[in-house]
Amino acid sequence: MKRLNNKVAIITGAAMGMGKATAELFAEEGAKVVVADFNEEGGKAVVNEIIARGGTAAYCKVDISNATEVAAMVQFAVDTYGRLDCAVNNAALKPDNNSFQDLDEAYWDRLQAVDLKGTALCMKYEIRQFVAQGNGGSIVNISSINAFKPTTGNPAYQAFKHGVEGLTKAAAFEYGIKGIRINSVAPGAIRTPMLTAALKSLGIEEKDIIPTMSLVGRLGEPREVAQGSLFLSSDDASYVHGTVLHVGGGFELI
Ligand SMILES: NC(=O)c1ccc[n+]([C@@H]2O[C@H](COP(=O)([O-])OP(=O)(O)OC[C@H]3O[C@@H](n4cnc5c(N)ncnc54)[C@H](O)[C@@H]3O)[C@@H](O)[C@H]2O)c1
Repeated sequence: MKRLNNKVAIITGAAMGMGKATAELFAEEGAKVVVADFNEEGGKAVVNEIIARGGTAAYCKVDISNATEVAAMVQFAVDTYGRLDCAVNNAALKPDNNSFQDLDEAYWDRLQAVDLKGTALCMKYEIRQFVAQGNGGSIVNISSINAFKPTTGNPAYQAFKHGVEGLTKAAAFEYGIKGIRINSVAPGAIRTPMLTAALKSLGIEEKDIIPTMSLVGRLGEPREVAQGSLFLSSDDASYVHGTVLHVGGGFELI
């Protein structure tokens, strides 16, 4: 039995990285997947791959920092597949790696608009749809190890990922009683285009970060994070609510 049979799922930031892996895994597990991303070419390619493997998916162009577009994304899921059952709010911008003394105000505003407000907007319209349907739903927000443990640089990214954990807890507090389960996944160091780009910009080699970022001697793979979101979105997690699942090879213990 597939774990998301006939469930309708929105995955934001699904054109690449962890969002792509999550869209693929959810489709393998029987979900009808809305691949939501502002990267149209990448998003459509993910949809084509899913369909070529026998899955069900549709692309929706969205900038999650825009409320009108986020509302339209949820409506797209309903118009295309009839309802919404689960969402993984994964889209975020790359960290800029600036230290505090070089904090860039324009970057702060853009990151705040996407990583924090954008996640909140997704939750707002997903929750509205769940409440209108009247039989619950599941939200998984993708935060970061940086919501629990600081690293050098990226103060804005770290602050907004703390905020994503705050949004998760606030919504969980209010909507559990309506059968809407809300949790987060906090990835550690995962081999995605975001991490590869960050390492490149810092001139750091992958092997050099492993001892300080993993207790299992390697980086994580996007699909390993997707497995965490799958568990939380499935009925296997029916009593898991308002909590965080660390998927980071023990990074939080270092
Ligand atoms: N890679 C890591 O090691 C790592 C670690 C901890 C947390 N995370 C978090 O995991 C999530 C996924 O990271 P990733 O490494 O796969 O990222 P990525 O950069 O590889 O992919 C991010 C995707 O989000 C999309 N996106 C960005 N802004 C958007 C917007 N405003 N509207 C719609 N789509 C938008 C991009 O087009 C892209 O497809 C992010 O929330 C990130 O902060 C990543």
